[in-house]
Amino acid sequence: MPLTDAVTDLDALLSLATDLAREAGQLALSMREGIEQEDTKSSPTDVVTAADRAVERLLVAGILAARPHDGVLGEEGAGIAGTSGVRWVLDPIDGTTNYLYGLPQWAVSVGVEVDGRTGVGVVHDPSKDELWQAVRGGGAVLNGRPLRCSARDELAQAMVATGFGYDARRRAAQAAVLPDLLPVVRDVRRLGAASLDLCAVAAGRVDAYYEQGLNPWDLSAGGLVAQEAGARVEGLRGRPAGFDLTLAAGPGLFPALHDLLVRHDADADPCA
Ligand code: IPD
Ligand code: CA
Repeated sequence: MPLTDAVTDLDALLSLATDLAREAGQLALSMREGIEQEDTKSSPTDVVTAADRAVERLLVAGILAARPHDGVLGEEGAGIAGTSGVRWVLDPIDGTTNYLYGLPQWAVSVGVEVDGRTGVGVVHDPSKDELWQAVRGGGAVLNGRPLRCSARDELAQAMVATGFGYDARRRAAQAAVLPDLLPVVRDVRRLGAASLDLCAVAAGRVDAYYEQGLNPWDLSAGGLVAQEAGARVEGLRGRPAGFDLTLAAGPGLFPALHDLLVRHDADADPCA
């Protein structure tokens, strides 16, 4: 298919992404009872369950049945180049550790890139029956209700979410930021699913979120939801959000947290 055909109707992509994320969430819910660790990936604490793999298979099959020329990148190994200029970026279960322990903070994350830019993001949290959707330039909604990030601009009043990677060296560096951060903010949360942390920023459930080490599937859908709700979603020193550092916050709060993270070189990779 020529690339021009990829100037695709974002609403059609949103509709397919939504149907698939809903179906995937139901499958994950139905498999949760008695689920066990099946494998590990990057470290002994980076677990994979049969549900992660089954949900990714369901998503990939649904995408290819509807759009056989699209590319797919999935956390559990899906890697299809595609020829349409559209690429699906999938985290079948974001928050796998919560899922394994029966904690209700995990989600199916479906991002859709058009010509390299995320155009659609859908995050489905079936435990809470929450569906987060965003379309580039079209805003973000939670169960159909428009979202706006918090307008807070004082770091001292900010509720800041963060996350920790699976590598012990990265964790040690991430932990080193906390002694300086905790005394100057309202509080810190580690909720355990990056896509939902970004959605929480979109809804003002937290004022900001930052993390080093995010993969494209952690960031794609939730990043667009936060951005479309008015948040800045960026890296440090003008770089784009990504593996080195992702910081999401309302425009009023962003600079203060940015500068604190710069003082810690929070985007330096301790594993490099
Ligand atoms: C992880 C979660 C976690 C974040 C990690 C991610 P996974 O994804 O989003 O909150 O701190 O960086 O890898 O492994 O549960 O899909
Ligand atoms: Ca995952």
